[in-house]
Amino acid sequence: KITAAITGVHGYVPDYILTNEELSTMVDTSDEWITSRTGIKERHILKGEGQGTSVMGIEAVKGLLAKTNTKPEEIDLLLCATVTPDYVFPSTANLIATACGLGHVPSFDLGAACSGFVYALTIGSQFIETGKYRKVIVVGADKMSSIVDYQDRTTCVLFGDGAGAVLLEPNADGYGIVDSKVYSDGAGVQHLYQKAGGSKYPPTLETVQNREHFARQEGQAVFKFAVVRMAEVAAEIMERNQLTSEEIAWLVPHQANKRIIDATAQRMGIGPEKVMLNIHKYGNTTAATIPLCLWDYESQLKKGDNLVLAAFGGGFTWGAALVKW
Ligand code: ACO
Repeated sequence: KITAAITGVHGYVPDYILTNEELSTMVDTSDEWITSRTGIKERHILKGEGQGTSVMGIEAVKGLLAKTNTKPEEIDLLLCATVTPDYVFPSTANLIATACGLGHVPSFDLGAACSGFVYALTIGSQFIETGKYRKVIVVGADKMSSIVDYQDRTTCVLFGDGAGAVLLEPNADGYGIVDSKVYSDGAGVQHLYQKAGGSKYPPTLETVQNREHFARQEGQAVFKFAVVRMAEVAAEIMERNQLTSEEIAWLVPHQANKRIIDATAQRMGIGPEKVMLNIHKYGNTTAATIPLCLWDYESQLKKGDNLVLAAFGGGFTWGAALVKW
């Protein structure tokens, strides 16, 4: 059986750092509140006129190609998970592929909010497993600052901008994405969404004045669903691959809130020393959190380590993947 091995990972975050201190000058909040309730200390923000999510995706993919000594023309497919595309259309994947010199490679975006990367990995790996393609790039990228209301203290402290990318290649020895499972429940829309700007509520003066183009959420409801669902799907993946928590080297959780991560790890019986964590410096970068974790922890990963990737996001969507590194 051929599996899709992750043969390279790279990330990119913009230079500008928005600290909790600076946020405290913008809304009624404090470093103490943000740190204790979320674990976030700072986040990176993409500044500048006309700078979209693709800018970060391009940097991540260019770095990935260089690092893995891969020629752009070798790539067979590029997927980009994002909820903050540069345009409604064409896709951000198209823009990234062309800017990175990938030629007329097939490329498309995929929207599953914070679970986007796990969804895209699941889809990308199928093309490798079937033998259809040999080199697939999966990007997770979001410019959350473009849909965050910096007058709403309940959301603006949570999010940041960033991108991460992985290269998938065939492996005959069982390394790579061994298994994955993704779910959705559209009944969750009311708890976490961006109301206006789509086809249901196209942009009007009124929607803009009502600040309906920003992400809104019921924080506590999202919190509860996230903990239950992430732990549930991670347990399902471990069970059907007959792995105990001792056999898991790393939990790679979506970084939405440190308390969600802690509670999920606890339910899974995984100690904090085995949990990848970088929320303190990036906040929630939506589809980018998991590849950014892999990038940050790359030097600590050993061949054969079992990684459980787990995510939860708007939709609701959730999912987990088992990766043998
Ligand atoms: N600074 C200071 N006070 C604040 C802030 C802030 N930034 N935000 C909220 N508060 C206040 C509230 O107004 C409330 O005050 P009140 O009691 O006077 O009404 C108080 O703090 C407590 O608010 P809670 O909502 O109960 O705080 P909670 O501990 O639940 O933390 C949080 C809120 C951080 C939003 C948490 O619920 C959470 O992280 N939820 C999950 C959110 C999430 O991850 N969303 C994205 C997921 S996925 C995706 O697809 C994008």
